[in-house]
Amino acid sequence: MIRTVSTTPYGDQKPGTSGLRKKVPVFQQQNYAENFIQSVFDALEGFAGKTLVVGGDGRFYNREVIQKVIAMAVANGFGRVVVGQGGILSTPAASNLIRKRKAFGGLILSASHNPGGPHEDFGIKYNAENGGPAPEKLTDAIYARSKVITSYKIADVGQVDLDHTGTFEVGGIKVEIVDPVADYAALMETLFDFDALRALFKSGFRMRFDAMHAVTGPYAKEILERRLGAAEGTARNFVPLEDFGGHHPDPNLVHAKELYDEMMGPNAPDFGAASDGDGDRNLIIGRGIFVTPSDSLAMLAANAHLAPGYKAGLKGIARSMPTSGAADRVAEKLGIGMYETPTGWKFFGNLLDAGMATICGEESAGTGSDHVREKDGLWAVLLWLNILAVRGESAKEIAAKHWVTYGRNYYSRHDYEEVETDRANALVDALRAKLGSLPGTSVRGMKIASADDFAYNDPVDGSVSKNQGIRILFEGGSRVVFRLSGTGTSGATLRVYIERYEPDPARHGLDTQAALADLIKAAEDIAGIRSHTGRDKPSVIT
Ligand code: G1P
Ligand code: ZN
Repeated sequence: MIRTVSTTPYGDQKPGTSGLRKKVPVFQQQNYAENFIQSVFDALEGFAGKTLVVGGDGRFYNREVIQKVIAMAVANGFGRVVVGQGGILSTPAASNLIRKRKAFGGLILSASHNPGGPHEDFGIKYNAENGGPAPEKLTDAIYARSKVITSYKIADVGQVDLDHTGTFEVGGIKVEIVDPVADYAALMETLFDFDALRALFKSGFRMRFDAMHAVTGPYAKEILERRLGAAEGTARNFVPLEDFGGHHPDPNLVHAKELYDEMMGPNAPDFGAASDGDGDRNLIIGRGIFVTPSDSLAMLAANAHLAPGYKAGLKGIARSMPTSGAADRVAEKLGIGMYETPTGWKFFGNLLDAGMATICGEESAGTGSDHVREKDGLWAVLLWLNILAVRGESAKEIAAKHWVTYGRNYYSRHDYEEVETDRANALVDALRAKLGSLPGTSVRGMKIASADDFAYNDPVDGSVSKNQGIRILFEGGSRVVFRLSGTGTSGATLRVYIERYEPDPARHGLDTQAALADLIKAAEDIAGIRSHTGRDKPSVIT
């Protein structure tokens, strides 16, 4: 039986950088999830009889919302729902399934690297038929709908068994429960030289992969240990938990500190990596070297042709604006296009679909390619492994040679988390107000070449996205960028991105924070971070 349930709008269902993210108790309010799901369906057209993919990162509340999605998909007229077994699908695996099944779209339930549990974060994101996050036009339509919604449709189908694979009839449509790993692993086999990787592990190559009790555990176990023969124990913290074991499943130097310490220690494995809550981010740490995500993008792009899936070369490289310019130098040398987009993977979709870019990356530990329309943590790890296997060198050697060829972009991000929203907005407003007067002036002996609020003109569909972050560009290629996070769930997070270009190999061995010290002081001088936020240091430095 299909019911139409009347409801009243919530005013706060505006999707951010990556879908709607709120605390679990917010999502648990009456009709909250239903309102948003119905708003998504209402903003779409032409899905009758078509396929919807659904899955999530396994965090608290995942199963409950999956049941709601299935019941509402039945009521709204979808023809088939494809669900990851146990409600599990990593974000890149969901993107792959949408594409492979030629689905109309998919709902991915995740709050990425944010903590999980009854009082922590949850999220819902819609991905379109290309497998990528809904473009801004669609997220705007979803938000507009959510503000005026008066009812939603739901079918009484009872609890669907999510734990057994197979195709079942539910409320007159087909619900298919699939192994969340199989299709994804098959895709990876088409891109990388699994024989070479097996030989690498057989030769005694040691690796550590920290799944952070999040969604990539089963993927890493299957691919690294079972298919590639890496030693048992290579994948650590591989059982997905609803609360990620109480940690932030955020693969950075703060939350994956244990891995970092091991990789810097005396008996370090050859290669270390980690992924986040929903499996789209990656952290790369070679023995004795942390590779920044910006550098990783550049190094992967420079060496991608060594993997079978990319042997024809790259069409172009895209990076988010705050990501360092390291990849730009690779694109220049390869003579291919380079695109600078706003923060958020959704902006890469058009470039990938149009065949203008092959590899994309963000400074926030996101790297991916045109094989799906999301960033992909394990993909980045496997590409690194493929490159290490072919070159027969360590990550540290590869990085050092890369910097000699291209120069080094010292890079760091300073986050000020949970700042009062008004104070964070005041800082940004004050910065904006003085943008015009900054060029030509000097701070700490460094001359400001230009200053602006980044706007993006999408070369494919002509859409314009304004106010995407404030850039202060210095002569010589150094810069400081300020923007407010669009994924937080309490207060505001100020992100300050600091970058210095250093062409001289004699100065490539500096400590990053020391190398950036003057720019860090300049950022404070220009933006008055301390007085605006009331903080004397960042909460997280990556
Ligand atoms: C953050 C990252 C951004 C990434 C997004 C989703 O967004 O900075 O690069 O695409 O998470 O994983 P932010 O919180 O900065 O808006
Ligand atoms: Zn993520």
